[in-house]
Amino acid sequence: MAQAQDGAGSVKVWDALVRTGHWTLVICVAVAWFIHGKWHEWLGYTALAVVAVRVVWGLIGPRYARFGQFVHSPALTLAYGKQVLAHREPRHIGHNPLGGWMIVALLLTLAGVCASGWLYTTDRFWGEEWVEDIHEGLTNVLLTLVALHVAGVIFSSLRHGENLVRAMINGRKRAPAPGDVE
Ligand code: HEM
Ligand code: HEM
Repeated sequence: MAQAQDGAGSVKVWDALVRTGHWTLVICVAVAWFIHGKWHEWLGYTALAVVAVRVVWGLIGPRYARFGQFVHSPALTLAYGKQVLAHREPRHIGHNPLGGWMIVALLLTLAGVCASGWLYTTDRFWGEEWVEDIHEGLTNVLLTLVALHVAGVIFSSLRHGENLVRAMINGRKRAPAPGDVE
C-alpha cells in the first residue's frame, strides 16, 4: 500500500496544501458573505487564487489530491449513490464518488462567484444589474452546495464512524480495512 502509515493504525490522506487551502476557502467565503467593500473583493481574490492552486494541485499533486483519484464516471457515481440509499456503500479512503463531484461543483461555482464579482468592478460592467444578479445568484447556488457538502460530511462521518472534519485538520484517516475502497 502506497500511503504513509504510522503505528497508530491511521494513514496520511490529505496533504498540507489541501488542508490549508480548504480552511482558507471556508474563512474567505464566510467573511466575504458578511463584509462588503475592499475587504470583500480581496477575500474573493484570495479564494480565487486558492481555487486556481487547487486545480493545478489536482493535476500534479500527491495521490489523494488528484482529480483522477476521486472524480469518477457518472455510472460509477450513480452506482455508489444507489449503494448509499441501500445503506451498503463502502468506506472510501480518499473522497467518495459523490463527494468528488461535489468538490468539482464547489470549485466551479466559487470560481464563477469570484469572476462575476470581479466583472462587476470593471469599468465596462460597473452598475450592470445583470452582472450583479449573476454574482448574487451564484452565491446562492454556492450556499446551497455548501449546505449539502456539510450534510454529506456529517452523514459519511456517522455512517463510517470517522470524524472527517478532524481528518481535514490533521490529514489522517483510519487505516484501510477489508472492504474499504481507495
Ligand atoms: C465555504 C465553504 C466550503 C467550501 C467552499 C468547501 C470546499 C471543499 C473542497 C473544495 C473540498 C475538497 C478538498 C480537497 O480535496 O481539496 C472539501 C472537502 C471537505 N470539506 Fe469542505 N468546504 C466548505 C465548508 C466546509 C465546512 C464548514 C466543513 C466542516 C463541517 C467542511 C468539511 C470538509 C471535509 C471534512 C472535507 C473532506 C471530505 C472527505 O472526507 O471526502 N467543509 N471542501
Ligand atoms: C468568496 C467569494 C465571494 C462571495 C462568497 C461573495 C458574496 C457576495 C454577496 C453575498 C454579495 C451581496 C449580494 C447582495 O447584495 O445580496 C456580494 C456583493 C458584491 N460582491 Fe461578492 N462575493 C465574493 C467574491 C467577490 C469578488 C472576487 C468581487 C470583486 C472583486 C466581488 C464583488 C462584489 C460586489 C462589487 C458586490 C456588490 C456591492 C457590495 O455589496 O459590495 N465579490 N458578494
